[in-house]
Amino acid sequence: SLLPVVLSGGSGTRLWPLSREAYPKQFLPLAGEHTMLQATALRLDHLAAEHPRLGLNVQDPLVVCNEAHRFLVAEQFRILERRCASILLEPVGRNTAPALTLAALAATAAAGTAGDTDPVLLVMPADHTIADAPGFRATVADGYQLAEAGAVITFGIVPDKPETGYGYIRQGEPYRQAELTGDAFRLHAFVEKPDQATAEGYLQSGEYLWNSGIFMLRASVWLTLIRRFRPDILDACEAAYSAGSRDGEFQRIDAERFAACPSDSIDYAVMERLSANAPADAAAGAEDLPPALVLPLSVGWSDVGAWSALWEVREQDAAGNVLDGDAFVHDAENNLVLAQHRMVAAVGVDNCIIVETPDAVLVASKDRAQDVKAVTQFLKDAQ
Ligand code: GDD
Ligand code: MG
Repeated sequence: SLLPVVLSGGSGTRLWPLSREAYPKQFLPLAGEHTMLQATALRLDHLAAEHPRLGLNVQDPLVVCNEAHRFLVAEQFRILERRCASILLEPVGRNTAPALTLAALAATAAAGTAGDTDPVLLVMPADHTIADAPGFRATVADGYQLAEAGAVITFGIVPDKPETGYGYIRQGEPYRQAELTGDAFRLHAFVEKPDQATAEGYLQSGEYLWNSGIFMLRASVWLTLIRRFRPDILDACEAAYSAGSRDGEFQRIDAERFAACPSDSIDYAVMERLSANAPADAAAGAEDLPPALVLPLSVGWSDVGAWSALWEVREQDAAGNVLDGDAFVHDAENNLVLAQHRMVAAVGVDNCIIVETPDAVLVASKDRAQDVKAVTQFLKDAQ
């Protein structure tokens, strides 16, 4: 069976002042009618029906989030009239490698709804947007049997700028299999967050894809990989998970033991090492390592990392403006203006981000949108 695992522990600091620690961006309806968490769950609707040859059993999702957000998560699923398999509550954030390890432990322990003790996990960040959901499902369907057979599936995005905040995947030789409807390639190398010069080289080479942050692999495959590369993380997660307790749909994780868990991402802890340990010719299943593949994903993906990205994914008017709420512009182009409680008017300004909330207003140049994290850093330091 397929078990969607939704990672919802991020804090989205570059989308201040709408995204706050107590209410991060995945819980906001920034990109459309639903919040990004809800959209992540809804994106899988019809997956089984659209791809009947797979005979897919898609389970209710398992959400991993911070304990402080448990009611937000539960409420957002309740509004959708959807169930979660469970909501794993992290007492503190330890980044995505421990989060996925907890999910894999829960998946293998609870034997899901399907009585499956080793489901294929579809790991999805809660805060991405994908314009073409059927296209996304088709790519997931393509990779499912490969993951079921033990492969690590990554999803690659064709890059259009030398972004340093992403992982880069170097495509290896094409991977051919009769059932594949789209392309698949061996994962030749995985480089997380390269420096600017390296990223520019990767972009020019045309051989690299961005890592989307979406992964698909069996629970047991993840547990094998984390045991091999970061046994310290596995040990801490096993201790914290087994000392935790079930509370309705919530699965609590022991605070003291989880606090002792090292912090690391899926990308640094496993993906980089998986590629570095693969042999040069990337033959399948080197030694005891599972084959790693990348499926290109061209479905209008965005991780909505900053206000400029939100401007890109939202529908713009003829002058390139995105206006939300009581916003008015005159002789102004390519701005994003969000007004929550008061009217906001902008005259003669281009490429600006203006976000008005009851207690804070942001005015920023669109090409400096990444630097909004300086504000949250300032607020943190001032506390
Ligand atoms: N449960 C949980 N706990 N979720 C977390 C935690 C945590 O401690 N930390 C992060 N997450 C969630 C975030 O909410 C987000 O949805 C996802 O995991 C990825 O975390 P980010 O912190 O946003 O990672 P990143 O943007 O630096 O890099 C990742 O995503 C890029 C694409 O957006 C990497 O996978 C890169 O390789 C990738 O290119
Ligand atoms: Mg991110």
